[in-house]
Amino acid sequence: MLEQRSLDSFLEAVKKLDAGFAGLPAFESKVPGMERLAGVLNATAERLHDNYPYFHPLYAGQMLKPPHPVARLAYALAMWINPNNHALDGGRATSAMEKEAVAEIAAMCGWKDCLGHLCGGGTMANLEALWVASQVHPGKKILASEQAHYTHKRISAVLQLQFESMPCDARGRTDMNFLAKRVARGDVGTVVATMGTTATGSVDPLPEILALKGRHGFRIHADAAYGGYFVLAGNLGAGARKALAQIGGADSIVIDPHKHGLQPYGCGCVLFRDPSAGRFYKHDSPYTYFSSAELHLGEISLECSRPGAAAAALWTTQKLLPLVHGGEFASGLEKGRAAALALFEKLENDERFVTAFAPELDIVIFAPRARSVSEASARSRQIFNAAAKRNLHLAVAELPTEFWAANLGTIQRDRETMTCLRSVLMKPEHLEWIPRIWDELSASTAEVLGADGASVCAS
Ligand SMILES: Cc1ncc(COP(=O)(O)O)c(C=O)c1O
Repeated sequence: MLEQRSLDSFLEAVKKLDAGFAGLPAFESKVPGMERLAGVLNATAERLHDNYPYFHPLYAGQMLKPPHPVARLAYALAMWINPNNHALDGGRATSAMEKEAVAEIAAMCGWKDCLGHLCGGGTMANLEALWVASQVHPGKKILASEQAHYTHKRISAVLQLQFESMPCDARGRTDMNFLAKRVARGDVGTVVATMGTTATGSVDPLPEILALKGRHGFRIHADAAYGGYFVLAGNLGAGARKALAQIGGADSIVIDPHKHGLQPYGCGCVLFRDPSAGRFYKHDSPYTYFSSAELHLGEISLECSRPGAAAAALWTTQKLLPLVHGGEFASGLEKGRAAALALFEKLENDERFVTAFAPELDIVIFAPRARSVSEASARSRQIFNAAAKRNLHLAVAELPTEFWAANLGTIQRDRETMTCLRSVLMKPEHLEWIPRIWDELSASTAEVLGADGASVCAS
C-alpha cells in the first residue's frame, strides 16, 4: 500500500511549491492542535481499517478503483493552496489545468471546440447534461433504459422533466425496436445512451440510436460515466467498439475520471458538443468574476465552489499517462477487460455456474446453478459471504432473469429477477490475479454447494 518512493517525490514537490512563495514575509502559523496531530492521525488510520481493501486485487466487487499514486499526491500537493475552481481569482493555475485536462478528455471523444468542465461526479455531470437538454427541448421527454443508472430518473424528477424508462434486450442494452417506435411519436427531446451500464457494463447501440436521431431530431446524451475511457481500449468486441467509436456523435457526454480515470472521488466531467450551451449557464455574480475577462469556470457550471485539487490531480495523471490509444493508460483498461474475459471463460466451462452474456467491458455477472432461480439467488448470497471470509470481495446484484434466459437449461424460472454475483475487474492487476480469484471463488462455491451442488449440476 505504501510507496516510499512516491512519498519522497511528494516531499520534494512540497519544497518546490514552498519555494514559489519564498518572497513573502515570514510568519508563524497559529494553527491550533499541531502537537496532538500525530495522535489523531493514527486514530484516523485505525478507523479506516473498517473498509473493504479496495486497493487489493482480491477486491473485485463494486466500481471502486484506487487512484493513481500521482493523483493522490498531486491532490495533496494542491491542498497546500486549496484552490477553488469556481473563479480565476480562487484558483488560477488549477482553472487552467482543468481547461487543459478537460480538453484532453474531449479530444479522446473526437471533440475539439466544445464546452466542458469537471464537477463532483457522475450524478452532477448527468444533472447538468439533462438540464441543458431540457433547455434545448423544453417540455419534451427524457428517455433512458431500464439498465441506465437510476440517477437519470431521479434527476428528471428533481428538474421536473418528464422521464420514461425504455425496456432492454437480453444483454442489458436499450431495446432498439421499442426506441424506434417510441421516438416516432415526436415528443422525445433526449435519449440517454448508456455507454457501459453500472450493473453489467453493457454498451447501448449508439450507431443505431444516431441513425434514429438523424430521422427524428432528438438529442442524444451519452452517459459514459463508467465506459467512456474504453474508447481507448484495443480489445473490445465489435459492438462496443463501434458504439464507443461514435461517441462524438452525441450532443453531450459524461465521463467520470473518478471511475476509470484513476482519480480520487469528487471528479466527474460533462462535455457539450455545441459550446453555445454556455448561454444557459449565463449569470452574473456581484462578488466573483472581477479579476479577468477570461472565462471563469463558475460561469459554465452549476456548482460554485469546486476543488481545484481535483483538476491538479487529473492534469498530473494525464501528463503521466496520456489518454492515447496504445499507451500505458489504455493498457490498464485492456488488462481489466482481459481479466473479465478470462473469468467469464472459467465460469462458462464450469458446470456449477450459469453465465448470462459475455462482458462488453470489464464487468462479469454470474450465478450458481440450482434447481430454480430462487435457489440460485439464495446461493449467490451465500457464495458472496463465503468468498468474503476468504478475502475475495465480490458484489451482489438483482437483475432480470431474462439476461440468463438462453442458458437457464433445467433451472426453473420461478422469479423475474435473479440475485446474482457481479465482479467489476477494474484494476490492471486483476488480470494476473484471475487464477487466485478463481481458486477462492471455486473453494467458496464448493463450500456452499457441497454434495448437493454436485447433484444439481449432474441433473
Ligand atoms: C453509468 C453511470 N452513470 C452515472 C453514475 C453516477 O455517478 P456518481 O456515483 O459518480 O454520481 C454511475 C455510477 O456508478 C454510473 O455507473
